[in-house]
Amino acid sequence: MTDWSPASWRDKPIVQVPAYEDTVSHDRVQARLASFPPLVFAGEARALKAGLAKVSDGEAFLLQGGDCAESFAEHGADNIRDFFRVFLQMAVVLTYAASSPVVKVGRIAGQFAKPRSSDTEIIDDVQLPSYRGDIINGIDFTGEAREPDPERMIMAYRQAAATLNLLRAFAHGGYAKLDHVHQWTVGFLKDSPQGHRYQELADRITETLAFMRACGLDADSVPALGQTEFFTSHEALLLDFEQALTRVDSTSGDWYATSGHMIWIGDRTRQPDHAHIEFCRGVKNPIGLKCGPSLDPDELIRLIDILNPQNEAGRLTLIARFGSDKVGEGLPALVRKVKAEGRHVVWSCDPMHGNTIKAASGYKTRPFDRILSEVTAFFDVHAAEGTHAGGIHVEMTGKNVTECTGGAKAISETDLSDRYHTHCDPRLNADQALELAFLIAERIKADREARGLTAHPISAAVGF
Ligand code: TRP
Ligand code: MN
Repeated sequence: MTDWSPASWRDKPIVQVPAYEDTVSHDRVQARLASFPPLVFAGEARALKAGLAKVSDGEAFLLQGGDCAESFAEHGADNIRDFFRVFLQMAVVLTYAASSPVVKVGRIAGQFAKPRSSDTEIIDDVQLPSYRGDIINGIDFTGEAREPDPERMIMAYRQAAATLNLLRAFAHGGYAKLDHVHQWTVGFLKDSPQGHRYQELADRITETLAFMRACGLDADSVPALGQTEFFTSHEALLLDFEQALTRVDSTSGDWYATSGHMIWIGDRTRQPDHAHIEFCRGVKNPIGLKCGPSLDPDELIRLIDILNPQNEAGRLTLIARFGSDKVGEGLPALVRKVKAEGRHVVWSCDPMHGNTIKAASGYKTRPFDRILSEVTAFFDVHAAEGTHAGGIHVEMTGKNVTECTGGAKAISETDLSDRYHTHCDPRLNADQALELAFLIAERIKADREARGLTAHPISAAVGF
């Protein structure tokens, strides 16, 4: 790799960075972070890359989701557990109903920094720096809270480590065992339409497991039945933090970002000659690239040349975030160009960020029907182009929040104030997340049948 180092991004133009006043403690914090243990290991990032390579070959589906922004205030075991439960439910719906292996990637354990449309925010004639995520400054509208504080990077690191520790325990310590498929339902879901639908599916899985057990196959003989692989991801926005956690992998000699398994580049920071692209090109982790309506097909190829020069399957995930009204028009040109150039990528759909509106009450929200319609359009485009609709990237929570309108429980604009807790963008609640998973599972199944493919045998569905 030519002229790359973990610090080479510092010579490039950069946008969306905070202005730290206290440069002395800023430098000290980075030195401390650089001495801390890695959060994830290179071998795990390679395992994720192998899973994503299967997705790019059309043999698996990527489920990526979590908070828009994690917060220090809401860092509790219950939150993490409830998120993980809904995530497992979505994964199992997709695995079983669509007969598709699912690569599971949380937007969690590091998703702390936010790009903002304006550097400052004005309320009642008072102008303060914008909130940029808990890793940078505080959300309260006071001068003190909004001052970027380098110590927050240490807090983010510690929170990410604790979150990851719990997630690893859940994924490998028995909680994610398929025998527990009924227990993942969060309380308030039990009496909802999605809850019932899920229960029926869980019944079928339990029956299948009993049959397999009678045949001599259970979690003891088939470890894949007793645990799952769960990976972490976040937007690599705060490069000071990312650089401090970038390490050489001793087995391969390659550089890895050890802040999370996968990192992505936002739609606002993907300028080819800028710092974020420079940083990401040099680390070997799977990389995500958000692709919005302003991205031109030739520019996309240029970015792919930079980020994935060897054309390795699993290295690059293109996350389309157009908006339900623009995806049908904008996405085909990108998909066609990438296919014509023979580039191996995962195509994933972020149906959240292009569908954000302001309700009359002032709340930012996302109508659930627009989210569904963007997902449907995404699948339509791939069916028409003969490419694989590989995954979904959503902002979601395990809590019963009222942040996106619509869904089977029909949250209205006036309901938004009931339980609106997000630190940034509106998230799907557990009910809406599950409804989306069912819709996608049905679509995957229908597409497969349309192509004359029969369902995978169960052994293919349970293996990672
Ligand atoms: N190990 C398999 C997988 O991850 C099967 C599995 C175990 C699973 N627990 C799960 C699938 C929970 C979805 C959700 O795919
Ligand atoms: Mn967001």
